[in-house]
This record gives sequence, C-alpha cells and structure tokens, in this order.
Amino acid sequence: MKITVVGAGAVGATCADNIARRELAEEVILLDIKEGFAEGKAIDMMQTATLLGFDTKIKGVTNDYSATAGSAVAVITSGLPRKPGMTREELIGINAGIVKGVAENILKHSPDAIIVVISNPMDTMTYLALKSLGLPKNRIIGMGGILDSSRFKYYLSQALNCNPNDLQGFVIGGHGDTTMIPLTRFATYQSLPVNNLLDHATLEKVAADTMVGGATLTGLLGTSAWYAPGAAGAALVEAIVRDEKKLFTCCVALDGEYGQKDICLGVPVIIGKNGWEKIIDFKLNDDEQAKFNKSADAVRNMNNVLTE
Ligand code: NAI
Repeated sequence: MKITVVGAGAVGATCADNIARRELAEEVILLDIKEGFAEGKAIDMMQTATLLGFDTKIKGVTNDYSATAGSAVAVITSGLPRKPGMTREELIGINAGIVKGVAENILKHSPDAIIVVISNPMDTMTYLALKSLGLPKNRIIGMGGILDSSRFKYYLSQALNCNPNDLQGFVIGGHGDTTMIPLTRFATYQSLPVNNLLDHATLEKVAADTMVGGATLTGLLGTSAWYAPGAAGAALVEAIVRDEKKLFTCCVALDGEYGQKDICLGVPVIIGKNGWEKIIDFKLNDDEQAKFNKSADAVRNMNNVLTE
C-alpha cells in the first residue's frame, strides 16, 4: 500500500514520520512544491529506520505527482499560514487554490484515493474539496476534531490529575477558536461523567483552554503546532488503512444530521476502509445545539468567501 502526504512542512513531515514508524504502508510519498525540501525530509526520516526499526519506505518528491500513483490515502497539508497584513479572506483564496490544485493532481494518478484535508481553514477547505472534486462524500475527510479532542483530554487530565488514556471526550463543530464545542456533558473518566468529578468553573476552564489550545501553542512556539496535528493525521490514516471502524470527530459533509445541510463540520463518525462510514447523530441539548448552529453559521460565512 502507498500513502501520499502533500506538504513536507512541520505538520506533513510529522504525519509522514508517524505513518512510517507505525508501518501503515509499504511506501509513503512526501510531496512538496519547494525544490528538494521533501527529498531532504524523506532522507532524514529514512535515516531513522535502522534506529527505530521500521520497514516503511519514505520517498520525497518535488511536485512529481506520477510518484504518488496508486495511493490509497492522500493527506493534504500544503498551504500558507497567515502573514502580517493579510486578511483571512486572502488566505482562503490562496489556500483554496493550493488545496484544489493538489487534490486534482492526486486524483489524476490515484482515482480511488481517500482525501484527508488538514490545511486551514480546514472546514472550508474540506467543503471546497467536496464541491470541486465530484467524489463520493465518504472519501473526503477533514482532520481537526481528532486534534481538538486530544487537546480536550489533555486539559481534562491536567484538571483531574489522571492518565489521559483513561478519558473519553469529543470536540465537535468547526475547527476554530470560537467555533469548536468541547462536549463536557459527555466526557467520562473510566465511565464516570467528568461533570460529577469536576466543579462547573473548572470544567468551563478546561473547555476554554481547549478552544484556544492551538493559539496557546502558537504563542509559545512562534508558529503553529505540529506534533499533535501530525499524530492526529496519522491516527486518522491508521483507522482508514487498518479498517478500524474507530469513532473519531471528523469534518464531513452533513445532510440533515445535527440539523445542518450543505456544509462540512466536525461530528463523530466511524472511520474505516471506505473513509467515513457512518455519522453518529446523537441528540444535543438546546445549549449544545445552539452552539453547533452558531458554529455552522461562522463556517458558512467562511465558505461563502469561496464563491464571492
Ligand atoms: P508549513 O508552512 O510548515 O508547511 C506547508 C508546506 O506546504 C510547505 O513546505 C510548502 O512548501 C508546501 N506547499 C505550499 N504550496 C504547495 C503546493 N501547491 N504543493 C505542494 N506543497 C505546497 O505549515 P504547517 O505548519 O505544516 O501547516 C500546514 C497547514 O496545516 C497549514 O494550513 C496549517 O494552518 C494547517 N494546520 C491544520 C491543523 C488541523 O488540525 N487541521 C493543525 C495544524 C496546522
């Protein structure tokens, strides 16, 4: 099996590294537009193979899509971060061009590939892929909620002073500081509802910290994070290629679920070899549904920039 990761920057390279270490495919193709960059990252990673004991081959290429032929999954991380003086709308326009062009090139050589979108603004980029590529909707998956849910469990584990692996928790809605919704009501620690274990103010702080989790790291690092985003991308790829039927929050096309249509937003879905296979459409309470609708409105406004 072959997996392609487009964009050999911080997130793409970390994702490729995790895929290789876990031997999710025989070959990983890392593709970037910057001359020699993906080649360099791939050689550096391959030089860890004998140290870490993995068998996956990582090959770096500069814009050569023929090397990606026959990929089962393609992960798109290519895109520009926002620069001083740039509007968000300008960024959408630039990244939309990059994501659309990349996805079209991938599909020319791998018509059956499942497309994983990571580039930001991810909800809008996923919607663009859905609208422009003409693929069955199950083959287009935006990665954001897996990362946000992992951050939610991290902050919960800090508040409870417990092992994060003993926690369950989901973040739904958009992948943005103000659009994501950490579902505190459904979070559990070893099956015990966390809202019985933490007071209201602590739980509110966990939710607030989760929502600005990415911004907090950007403040500390001077650039956006890559370890958890790359690992989250690889976890999604793993669920697909190993047909795990795992429940993850992913950005997918909604057709009435959670009261929304003609939009891609983060909801719990089952992930397997066909991409996202089923939406778990559980009943939100009035407050959660109002937040979800507000999140949808904000993402829809971003999506509208694409057609203006
Ligand atoms: P980066 O700047 O380190 O890497 C981006 C790479 O894309 C660069 O190496 C660049 O040369 C390449 N690139 C640009 N245009 C290309 C094209 N047309 N074809 C192939 N490669 C191209 O950025 P980083 O930190 O890796 O982030 C990548 C994207 O992921 C950003 O849009 C970022 O906002 C997003 N992101 C999304 C997350 C999520 O949860 N969905 C989490 C973290 C980042």
